Amino acid sequence: EQHILGNLPLHGKKVMITAGPTYEAIDPVRFIGNHSSGKMGFELAQTAANLGAEVTLISGPTNQTLKHNAVNIIPIISAQDMYEQAQLHFKDADIAICAAAVADYKPKEVALQKIKKDDSALTLELEKTKDVLAFLGAIKSNQFLVGFALETNNELEHAKGKLKRKNLDLIVLNSLNDKGAGFKADTNKITLIDAKEHIIEFNLKSKAEVAQDIFNEILNQLHA
Ligand code: CTP
Ligand code: CA
Repeated sequence: EQHILGNLPLHGKKVMITAGPTYEAIDPVRFIGNHSSGKMGFELAQTAANLGAEVTLISGPTNQTLKHNAVNIIPIISAQDMYEQAQLHFKDADIAICAAAVADYKPKEVALQKIKKDDSALTLELEKTKDVLAFLGAIKSNQFLVGFALETNNELEHAKGKLKRKNLDLIVLNSLNDKGAGFKADTNKITLIDAKEHIIEFNLKSKAEVAQDIFNEILNQLHA
């Protein structure tokens, strides 16, 4: 068995993945969140483990499940939690993939008691969360760093901008214009852009197949 495992392409490699949404508390019973299902990140974790990697999966609140000896799931709630766990685990990672739909803004103050309604409108002041992926890009040494870009317009231009700005090796463009792609779907249609801005387009596929396509390209790039 040792011999067989040793032949797997990611044997001996550590892969860190972020997945799911984050929840940003407003008060003890309310939060700001989004519709991310966590599916893409969990499929990536499963694929990495199948390829022989040791996987750390940092995930926001999700219904997804995954049981694999080589996958360590770290559940988190907020963008700040995700940032702290990612910082901790990135050091030993060979490959890091940020597939999480991290909230961009959080309430500036979290009310300690449930906010009561009255006759006036309610205004919440929001401040930016930390950008986990941009932080990893800024501190990376030898890690191969992969990000996602969720776009609805000027997709390629926006994705290339994120690739450069966040110092990535590869970006996965998720176009929300395609039917069957996105947050809740079981399928996805992606375009990969590498650091040299080479572009590879894929057809609409299951998220499991998309995860395989992403790792095929990561392995190509690591062996190039
Ligand atoms: N990301 C992150 N931390 C954040 C925001 C985003 O790690 N606070 C990561 C996502 O996991 C994804 C990538 O950055 O891999 C791009 O996320 P996206 O929402 O598409 O882009 P943003 O940079 O947040 O810009 P915008 O939402 O304005 O398009
Ligand atoms: Ca965002």
